[in-house]
Amino acid sequence: MATMLNQMAVRPLSDALGAEVSGIDVSKIDDPTFRELRDIFHDRLVLVVKDQDLSPADQTAFARRFGEIQYHISPEYLMKDQPEVMILSNEKEDGKFIGLPDGGSEWHSDHSYVDQPTGYTVLHAIKVPRDGGDTEWTSMVRAYDSLSDDMKRRLGGLIGTHSFNRLKNSRLTVPVRHGNDPDYYKRSPPDSYHPVVRTHPATGRKALYMSPRFTIGIKDMDDVAARSLLDELFAHINNRAFVYRHRWTVGDLLLWDNRATIHLACGGVPEGQHRRMHRTTVLGEIPF
Ligand SMILES: [Fe+2]
Repeated sequence: MATMLNQMAVRPLSDALGAEVSGIDVSKIDDPTFRELRDIFHDRLVLVVKDQDLSPADQTAFARRFGEIQYHISPEYLMKDQPEVMILSNEKEDGKFIGLPDGGSEWHSDHSYVDQPTGYTVLHAIKVPRDGGDTEWTSMVRAYDSLSDDMKRRLGGLIGTHSFNRLKNSRLTVPVRHGNDPDYYKRSPPDSYHPVVRTHPATGRKALYMSPRFTIGIKDMDDVAARSLLDELFAHINNRAFVYRHRWTVGDLLLWDNRATIHLACGGVPEGQHRRMHRTTVLGEIPF
């Protein structure tokens, strides 16, 4: 196969993170092009690959080039004949949502509540609403780099507690659709514990690893002190200089590195407009 490397065009999307890639078909790229793409991805943390016409099987095969597929803990919205792909959508069939309608509405890193969280997420835009539905990413490398030396020292060796269970997180409310279902949170996996400052296995760069959605405390620190420290860090992270905001176009294939970014579904899709995304996640390493 001829290399696609010389057809690939790359441009940065914001100062902090993100790169747009065009001129390639990810279902056909050769190994040198893939390695180049992965290096750019590790450097920029979010990749927008334009104009991809991919079947769920193509998307799965591409995701597998980054590592082992991670299956979502909730089987409800996995594609029947391609369970590596989860549907995110506000569309309904026979009165029922065909996909997860409201995922990601608080800042988070995917699956940080398990011992071996997601490394990469791959999201393909199938239907895009005219209004709303944007997604934002924050560079947790920038967030870490811009901390004071004193704060960096304070965080050294600290371990964050991550929980799927909303009932344990005073920053959150419980969505109406789960509020009357006491069994829903019994399905929560046990809490997991990860370094507050994480090292990227490919680049060696350090990043804050925490989020308002999943990080509920600091191991071996009392709740008041942990709350105060997390409040301070979340205020620091909440900085537009660290953010890339994406306005979706059909055919966009977004890849993000969950070790060094958090993301947010911005919502705001009006009733009657449809959004459908296909999501595949790739297992990461145990954070260190
Ligand atoms: Fe997510």
